[in-house]
Amino acid sequence: MDFKGKVAAITGGAGGIGAALARALHARGAKVAACDLDGAAAEKTGAACGGFGMAADVSNEADVARFINAVERRLGPIDLYFSNAGVGFSDGPLWGAADAPNRVWETQWAVNVMASVYAARLVAPKMAARGAGAFVITASAAGVLHQIGDTAYSATKSAAVALAEGLAIAYGDAGVQVHCLCPQYVRTGMTKDLAAEMTGVDGMISAEEAAETTLKALEDNRFLILTHAVTGEHFMRKAGDRDRWLKGMRGLRAMLVEKLGRPF
Ligand SMILES: NC(=O)c1ccc[n+]([C@@H]2O[C@H](COP(=O)([O-])OP(=O)(O)OC[C@H]3O[C@@H](n4cnc5c(N)ncnc54)[C@H](O)[C@@H]3O)[C@@H](O)[C@H]2O)c1
Repeated sequence: MDFKGKVAAITGGAGGIGAALARALHARGAKVAACDLDGAAAEKTGAACGGFGMAADVSNEADVARFINAVERRLGPIDLYFSNAGVGFSDGPLWGAADAPNRVWETQWAVNVMASVYAARLVAPKMAARGAGAFVITASAAGVLHQIGDTAYSATKSAAVALAEGLAIAYGDAGVQVHCLCPQYVRTGMTKDLAAEMTGVDGMISAEEAAETTLKALEDNRFLILTHAVTGEHFMRKAGDRDRWLKGMRGLRAMLVEKLGRPF
């Protein structure tokens, strides 16, 4: 895939992985529009990357449509859509499996899953009609493995992986590239308050590294984008023997409870 002259739309573009993707795309010649709850920061990202930015709440279908319409009107048909906004494990304490309140589950469902559904309905059929385009969902390694302490995040990111698979099956033969980005720990606003005991297990990378890995996968048209090689190894072990994997995760949880000194 050649990014030169392409129109890219990125949600959650105020900072972190979204802003790094914007910069990496613009460096390759793309024009980028960004949206975020933080409209001012999204404007800054878009203005620096050949496009524009705006405030939008992607958990709201009308806001997603407003963003997509604005991109099409101001920059042209969308070649690359990155459904990247997400909420998760930094938003509260570590939760026991079903203990997070309904508002946590509902917000995560709306942002981590439905925002991509709303966008895909509007964008994917147009890409298919043109026989080209890329639709990228930022899920998480938590979607193929598990995030201890945030089952809502793990469940909604698993749903995001399933949605990406569904889109790849439905649109892959129509010339639309669908990708599912599953990072492990990346140094962003989302992970800044996480204990080193958690983020240190498999190591953290920068948002720039995550963005470069992502664009390389788009160039190679690989569906599953892993920022850490170890994610694939853990996933193979999980697929091979679920009981053994769960036992290992229980051990990891017990280690975290002891090191952090608080039960969850
Ligand atoms: N940082 C990590 O270690 C990591 C690991 C796996 C997956 N992810 C995923 O990567 C994506 C980007 O996160 P990040 O790490 O760059 O963190 P981040 O907090 O810097 O970026 C997330 C952005 O999403 C925005 N956002 C949240 N709710 C929104 C809404 N309703 N409408 C519009 N924007 C909204 C936030 O304002 C924020 O700017 C998320 O989907 C996250 O779940 C991150």
